[in-house]
Amino acid sequence: MNPATDSPGAAPDSPVAVVSGGSRGLGRVLVERLLADGWRVATFSRKPNEFTEAMAGKHPDAFHWAAVDLTDFTALRQFARDGAQRFGRIDLLVNNAGVLHQELFLTTAPARMNDLVGANLLAPLHLAQACARAMVRGGGGTIVNVSSINAIRGYRGVAVYAAAKAGLEGLGRSLARELGPLGIRVNTLTPGFFDSDMTADVTSGNREKIQRRTPLGRLGTVEEIADAVLFLASSEARFITGHTLVIDGGITC
Ligand SMILES: NC(=O)c1ccc[n+]([C@@H]2O[C@H](COP(=O)([O-])OP(=O)(O)OC[C@H]3O[C@@H](n4cnc5c(N)ncnc54)[C@H](OP(=O)(O)O)[C@@H]3O)[C@@H](O)[C@H]2O)c1
Repeated sequence: MNPATDSPGAAPDSPVAVVSGGSRGLGRVLVERLLADGWRVATFSRKPNEFTEAMAGKHPDAFHWAAVDLTDFTALRQFARDGAQRFGRIDLLVNNAGVLHQELFLTTAPARMNDLVGANLLAPLHLAQACARAMVRGGGGTIVNVSSINAIRGYRGVAVYAAAKAGLEGLGRSLARELGPLGIRVNTLTPGFFDSDMTADVTSGNREKIQRRTPLGRLGTVEEIADAVLFLASSEARFITGHTLVIDGGITC
């Protein structure tokens, strides 16, 4: 029997994941798959939706959702503390949520730059610190930060997003050194384009261009990206830390 899908209650000692942005896209698939694998999951987004409401009804003991904005760092830290208190531990943090805003650098308003760096870099830093403290108390854990190929290749109109994502990759390497001795692995996943609301506005011309430049000839699927996150989080990756795994069908190779 699958404990998460076939019974209303989760085992009180089952592992606990914190996933940012678990209402849609990659975060939603991660939440679904972690629950199906018997994890307890705490996640947030700005708004609830049918998915978060369905999960709360189906998994009252294993699923926790709250409305939190990535740029409210005090609320983020409180969310992590509440998750640790409610479930008793934190074993995994996936810094999944991200905000893409495309605009030429010279016209980007200073407040917009602050918000983008706040959501894409400072928010993961705050969550990582709050969750790592709980992991240390529990004897270890793992963190997966979701970056983007914008961190490793230049594209017009995404300078601020790219800068924040590149920061996330630097964070992962240094954090791996500092937290490894405490039993915490830290890795970065660097996806190329995959289908989600974030890429829903990509024009068919741009989509064709991406596909032409990708050796595997297509965009990724959200399930493929989730597979890679769950691999880095799993015991199969127990000797992998400080690593950046690019998953992009070869577009940056
Ligand atoms: N899609 C791609 O092609 C692609 C490529 C490379 C990297 N990535 C990265 O992969 C990760 C997942 O992307 P995705 O495509 O799955 O994203 P998505 O479909 O846009 O979903 C984003 C999730 O984050 C939440 N979120 C957005 N802004 C938020 C905010 N200010 N505060 C709190 N929650 C917020 C959203 O819920 P609410 O809107 O309700 O808040 C939603 O649950 C991101 O880090 C992204 O940068 C994506």
